[in-house]
Amino acid sequence: MKFKVTVVGAGNVGATTAQRIYEKGYADVVLVDVVEDMPQGKALDMMESGPVVGTDARITGSNGYEETADSDVVVITAGIARRPGMSRDDLLLTNMKIVGSVTEQVAKYSPNAVLVIVSNPLDAMVQHAKAVSGFPKERVVGMAGILDTARFRTFLSMELNVSVTNVQAYVLGGHGDSMVPLIGSTTVGGVPVSKLIEKDRLEQIVQRTRDGGAEIVGLLKTGSAYYAPSAAAAQMVEAILLDRKEILPCAAYLEGEYGITGLYAGVPVKLGAAGVEEIIEVELTDTENTALQKSAKAVQELIEVMAANS
Ligand code: NAI
Ligand code: 2OP
Repeated sequence: MKFKVTVVGAGNVGATTAQRIYEKGYADVVLVDVVEDMPQGKALDMMESGPVVGTDARITGSNGYEETADSDVVVITAGIARRPGMSRDDLLLTNMKIVGSVTEQVAKYSPNAVLVIVSNPLDAMVQHAKAVSGFPKERVVGMAGILDTARFRTFLSMELNVSVTNVQAYVLGGHGDSMVPLIGSTTVGGVPVSKLIEKDRLEQIVQRTRDGGAEIVGLLKTGSAYYAPSAAAAQMVEAILLDRKEILPCAAYLEGEYGITGLYAGVPVKLGAAGVEEIIEVELTDTENTALQKSAKAVQELIEVMAANS
């Protein structure tokens, strides 16, 4: 049986996510966007790559939601992206309206789907999607921690000239300047990273990770990152569809875990067919815990701005 995945927003992240899922072959994909003919054109172009990449899945484009009915997973990437000089938070009120209207439609046509939110500012958008959909917390999850962690692992592997697969790390907290790379539990081939890289240099790598999104925006100039973000979103979709029960850092709704209540934040979760099947509580140092609470506070401030504008 093939799965069905909808990706809303056929821009850079959405189209690349759709392509990655389509090429796996285990799911039919519907790509939705407000721009007339554009998702249809991108979907047809991808469909015509099927004979070359060897997939029998179907991908279709649409400007509506009827075709998305009964999707197993819906990825929401609709919204505006950062341009140079903008922070993720600058997108708040515009993307709140877009994500809200998209979520309403998606929830109506796919009431049993797991929603994977990508639009920024991520933690606020996923909180908004949960409220609008009325879905249980397990079925509304945000993509950011995998991306931030991938950036951190990439920079560490470049620094030490080792395979990225040997670098184990987590970046937790909100997807913003206050994100929390966990130095204490980062290992390279089982060796604590603090034994391999000097403190000052490690701090520079942590800062580069925090600035990872802005670094790409500065280079691209007309938009933000999408190759690594789409890889991260596709990994989440696969973990859910194939019930992999993979432990991945994702934005999950916390009810007391890590001392945070009623708020989304990036934490390790077990991702499987039911969505967020478990929140994993890793041990934090005092400094890391303080940073996580500060990061949650930054997310809370955005939630309050949304509440004041709704
Ligand atoms: P993009 O501008 O290339 O694509 C966004 C697409 O959304 C456009 O095609 C636009 O027409 C569409 N759209 C706007 N309103 C819509 C609506 N009401 N219904 C359906 N589609 C609609 O932007 P990109 O680069 O794909 O980024 C998308 C979002 O993802 C941005 O908010 C960006 O900040 C965020 N992002 C989040 C990341 C994360 O780690 N959570 C990483 C990368 C991007
Ligand atoms: C990123 O981190 C823009 O959130 C996006 O690349």
